Amino acid sequence: MKDLQNGLKASVNRRSFMKRGLTAAGAATVSAGLLGNGLSAASEGPEEKSGRLTPGDAAILRFLAAAEILETDLWQQYNELGGIQDSEVPGGSGNPTYTAALAVLDADMDQYIHDNTEDELTHEVFINAFLASKRADTVNLDEFRTLPSSQATGAQQIGRLTNLMQLTVDTSWWTRYRVGNKNPDFGDTFDQAVPSLNVGQHPAIPRKDDDLTPNDHIQAIANTAGFHFGTIEQGGTSLYPSLAQRVTHPEVLRIVLSIGPTEAMHFQTWSDKAGNAPPLTDPKDPTLVFPDLNSPPFGGEEFQTNLIMPEPTIFLSRKLPACSIVRPTATKGAAMGALKFLTAMGLFIGQSPAFFELMTDLAEDADEARRGRG
Ligand SMILES: [Fe+2]
Ligand SMILES: [Fe+2]
Repeated sequence: MKDLQNGLKASVNRRSFMKRGLTAAGAATVSAGLLGNGLSAASEGPEEKSGRLTPGDAAILRFLAAAEILETDLWQQYNELGGIQDSEVPGGSGNPTYTAALAVLDADMDQYIHDNTEDELTHEVFINAFLASKRADTVNLDEFRTLPSSQATGAQQIGRLTNLMQLTVDTSWWTRYRVGNKNPDFGDTFDQAVPSLNVGQHPAIPRKDDDLTPNDHIQAIANTAGFHFGTIEQGGTSLYPSLAQRVTHPEVLRIVLSIGPTEAMHFQTWSDKAGNAPPLTDPKDPTLVFPDLNSPPFGGEEFQTNLIMPEPTIFLSRKLPACSIVRPTATKGAAMGALKFLTAMGLFIGQSPAFFELMTDLAEDADEARRGRG
């Protein structure tokens, strides 16, 4: 993980070189394949074409398109093994043992996984199509589909963008939405619901059929997925309102305001289901413990599993009354924050330096966008 974070930092430093050196043959070759319509050699601002959009709006939409492509890739992997297999979300053939372990959290988990996957796919396709309709450059990450698939029965054998087999899952959203006097935008930090998921590396899908036994092991993998679903979708729930504050054109604002709340609908569902993850210790990794969140030292307002509505909390100023809100929503550095969050969870373990360079570039361009200034 440390290496990855160092890698991300290094790629940030390399970015200014990438921007300056865009006409150099190497950089131009790398970048040309990444962006649908190629690159223009603008001397400042995003190198990509913004067409009839402001550069800032195009940059925000491109970062969101990239985030949605990555989301689709990870949800597709979950769906192939644990979702409903049909023509809406084709590709896998299902893994009955993993699907049954997920069903312990809710009998309809396979349907919800399928529908979340389909939603992400439509977000990705729509945002790119909108960019193209305005003659702005789109995002294409196909050349980074290089990570291995699960070898377990049910998964397609294709290259992936994301890695669901070495996750470090931050479960602090659980308490963040239950505590009434703290807000991450005020610098507050929050307890983990499953402390052992937030350290080490854990599979959220079976890596091979060997992972399907014993029962508590595949259940630990399904529980990991159950919490990861919430972690991912609360991220989307914060990302859209955070970036919306710097959008200029009303139609782009409408897009961001219309997609963002669907991430919250996903999050709310997963927040409810994660509370049904049965307490257990993974027999193949005794460091991984899912606690009983309703009993001491857990339980109470911070952990109780039926407290799934956001607890009103401080917002904007401590002098104002508490309010039920999405948190965090600070806009400064929101795109880079999202990229760091996804990187820190191990989602990109195995990705190339060029991948981090491109994602960093897209995030920095999105964070440079200013409302009304393009
Ligand atoms: Fe999405
Ligand atoms: Fe999402």
